[in-house]
Amino acid sequence: MSAVPSAAKPCEPASGSLESLIAHERDLYTRNNPNSLALYRKAKTSLPGGNTRTVLHYSPFPITVRRAQGAHIVDADGHQYQDFLGEYTAGLYGHSHPKIAQALSRALSDGLTFGSPTEQEGHLGALICERFPAVERLRFCNSGTEANMLALSSARAHTGRTDIMVVDGSYHGGVLSFAGDNPLNAPFPTHRIPFNDLVTAAETINTVGDRLAALIIEPMIGAGGCIPADADFLKGLREATEAVGGLLIFDEVMTSRHGPSGLHGMYGLLPDLVTFGKYLGGGMSFGAFGGRADILDRFDPSRPDAWPHAGTFNNNVFSMTAGLVGLSEIYTPEVAEAFFAQGERCREKLAESLSALQLPVHVTGMGSMMALHFGLQAPRAPYSPPPGYSDLYELVHLKMMAKGQFYARRGMINLSLPVTESMFRDFASDLIATLDLCSDAILETVGS
Ligand SMILES: Cc1ncc(COP(=O)(O)O)c(C=O)c1O
Repeated sequence: MSAVPSAAKPCEPASGSLESLIAHERDLYTRNNPNSLALYRKAKTSLPGGNTRTVLHYSPFPITVRRAQGAHIVDADGHQYQDFLGEYTAGLYGHSHPKIAQALSRALSDGLTFGSPTEQEGHLGALICERFPAVERLRFCNSGTEANMLALSSARAHTGRTDIMVVDGSYHGGVLSFAGDNPLNAPFPTHRIPFNDLVTAAETINTVGDRLAALIIEPMIGAGGCIPADADFLKGLREATEAVGGLLIFDEVMTSRHGPSGLHGMYGLLPDLVTFGKYLGGGMSFGAFGGRADILDRFDPSRPDAWPHAGTFNNNVFSMTAGLVGLSEIYTPEVAEAFFAQGERCREKLAESLSALQLPVHVTGMGSMMALHFGLQAPRAPYSPPPGYSDLYELVHLKMMAKGQFYARRGMINLSLPVTESMFRDFASDLIATLDLCSDAILETVGS
């Protein structure tokens, strides 16, 4: 990628209320990004809010990305950013990894959609079964949302029960979102349990009893703030669901990147079903659900009692090819192990710097995924930030973008394979300087 200037460095206002600091930052951002603004306005004429994926919207308007390479992106106004969003974990391989790009261009010349099984799907399926201990069989689909819908529906069909259970504040897809009330959620009878509170969770599981088809959980809360589950909490859920005959589903759409075999492998736990998505498609659209053979084998079409599972693009050549090259040639078990350790080191160093700053800001996470939190303590469960906190997130985010650092508005930071530890140090040092500069506003909003 040719060298381009990173986002213009603004002059800092001396001080002021949070409101006036944000107004100043928005004004600078708007003046710095005229092309992204024009594209946003144009998109608004057809797409509500100029948007077709809610999480990609942030105020005053998002940058439009034109191109990317490795761990850098370039926007429509020519600013270059270090990419610490990592496409919300789907971008694990970085942008245009040469092995994936070559495999895709070979696939392109051989034809795209065949209406038949392809060679790659069996290989990728076998590799996933080999890597993830709870997966004896699996089926591919097109997104993490679809994988979770299919896993929950399979659990209901398998058990003949109706109800599902979720963690309050968890996210399993656009129609399975449990932070607040989502009117678009799939209409399963749903019970909520608090995260990392085994006593309440076990009581609720026992109360629902023989109506419980499945409990679905992210073994580390992702979108809700990169908050790891206690191993004992997960173990307790395994026992409690088994005792009432309900299935346990681990949503590892994000966390399957942690170590060679995801978090269930790391903790030595065997959920009945596991769902996947994001990076496992090598950057292409992807979803998969797998688990116990006695459940999954009901999808065998040659059985008289087979469950149907359709999906025109389930085995599409691009996702199967990119996913297979990625898992077999790039994200090997050794690389996954080293990448997890690198993420741990990065987060621990950032936590030390934050602690030295003596501001109410924390970082949580595991391995290559982490999130920033304003608050007096690091959270142990997903929470709704009090009013005013979203302004702090906005202020810090806009200032970091002006320094050429890109991550999620809500504070999520994801490493990708081309991110070096020196890139992370650079990111962390910009973050610490930014927080220091905003210290009055942070202390005023959060307290001390
Ligand atoms: C834990 C988890 N499950 C499911 C999903 C949904 O995946 P997709 O966006 O591919 O539908 C996501 C997406 O962010 C996720 O983080």
